[in-house]
Amino acid sequence: MSNILKAALDREIERYVAENPKSRAIQERAERSLPGGDSRNSIWWAPFPTYVTRGEGSRLHDVDGHARVDLINNMTTLILGHSHPAVVKAVTEQAARGLSFPAPSELVVRWGEIIVDRIPSIDKVRFVNSGTEGTLNAIRAARAFTGKDKIGKFEGGYHGAHDDVAVSVDPPITKAGEARAPTPVADYLGVPRKSPAETIVMPYNDLEASAAIIERHKSDLAAVIVEPVIGRLGMVPADVEFLKGLRDLTQRLGIVLIFDEVIALRVARGGAQERFGVIPDMTAMGKIIGGGMPVGGFGGRADIMELFNPKSGPKVKHAGTFNGNPMTAAAGVATLEALTPAVYQRLEQLGESVRKKLSALIKERETPMGVTGIASLFSLQFTSETIRDYRSVQSNDKTFQRLMFIGLLNEGFALSPSCAGNVSAAINEKDIDAFVAAVGRVMERAGYG
Ligand SMILES: Cc1ncc(COP(=O)(O)O)c(C=O)c1O
Repeated sequence: MSNILKAALDREIERYVAENPKSRAIQERAERSLPGGDSRNSIWWAPFPTYVTRGEGSRLHDVDGHARVDLINNMTTLILGHSHPAVVKAVTEQAARGLSFPAPSELVVRWGEIIVDRIPSIDKVRFVNSGTEGTLNAIRAARAFTGKDKIGKFEGGYHGAHDDVAVSVDPPITKAGEARAPTPVADYLGVPRKSPAETIVMPYNDLEASAAIIERHKSDLAAVIVEPVIGRLGMVPADVEFLKGLRDLTQRLGIVLIFDEVIALRVARGGAQERFGVIPDMTAMGKIIGGGMPVGGFGGRADIMELFNPKSGPKVKHAGTFNGNPMTAAAGVATLEALTPAVYQRLEQLGESVRKKLSALIKERETPMGVTGIASLFSLQFTSETIRDYRSVQSNDKTFQRLMFIGLLNEGFALSPSCAGNVSAAINEKDIDAFVAAVGRVMERAGYG
């Protein structure tokens, strides 16, 4: 089979190269000023990425004149789709009033009120400019609050690009140790040796093994950080009992539980914590709360967030030229206000529909594939194994995955390079049917007719 897949992949790439000459030319130019022509690894792929000219509703237009259905929405950010009228209006009006100020604006207060009102764990919130800064500050707060240094994370979990969490995101299996007691592995050169020494790694969705690791390190552990829906493994929701077990254990041991809801916030108006009924001490956010502008946030229990109160010190300093800037606040408020319960219900139905239709297709074609996801999030898996953790996701056939990704670009559909996707409110059932049909055609070209 793998020779058939390899030949099919070569044909998809040949077609992709032939149909995207302008993107290819820009990539060649980009390589003269940016390493590999790239400034963001997550949107680079071989042989070259497509260069986008504009987004409009559910469509992503590129320099070669393709208008693809956008099923990635800037890595889950654009929950309303591109250029939603309310967001465009808010940002345009704010731009005319001023881009950034050396003083707060009232918009940021409104933004904070919406977050505090919706997210159960958040008594107080602060805004930053990336999810990376969100998790970094939540972890720092936990360290300050507990007086301890170590943190615990889960194998395969991505929490941004800072040293503490650049550990065991995608470790080579040969270095990763036992499945139930993973060895912490630095993710790339430049991560200091202290990171894998100070960050303990646990198996996702395995409460018993994780609890044993937490107990062993309890006197040094400031925080456990976990995604209630783990993005990198294919938008896989945690078992509620797993999250509840982590909640009980960390509470008993005085360890701060941080939910990284940078992606998971999409699954309900109050985030995954509301949906699953498990309330952490701190929550890190990003993506949808900024409506498409650069954003991050962190918030949680009043007694922990008090560390940042400038009136009393502050105990933890936290500045940032663009924190809570009015442009991001404008886009964020407009987006969050447009996200009514009815919109969430629609996203839920569309997400359910895409997962059901893909599953039916996979079953009908007897293809070694699967579908994971929840609410508006989904991912194709290139294995028949049930995906619950980092080890099970290793069974994915990488050639098939790449073939599907490039094949779908050729068909006019944009997913992430790992074939994860999500629906925005700009999508409709017709787009979903067209997408599922396109997946079927790529399967056919891969030998699953
Ligand atoms: C779960 C999770 N946490 C944190 C981050 C980092 O966010 P940012 O890319 O805005 O720094 C990401 C980004 O994809 C993410 O998916």
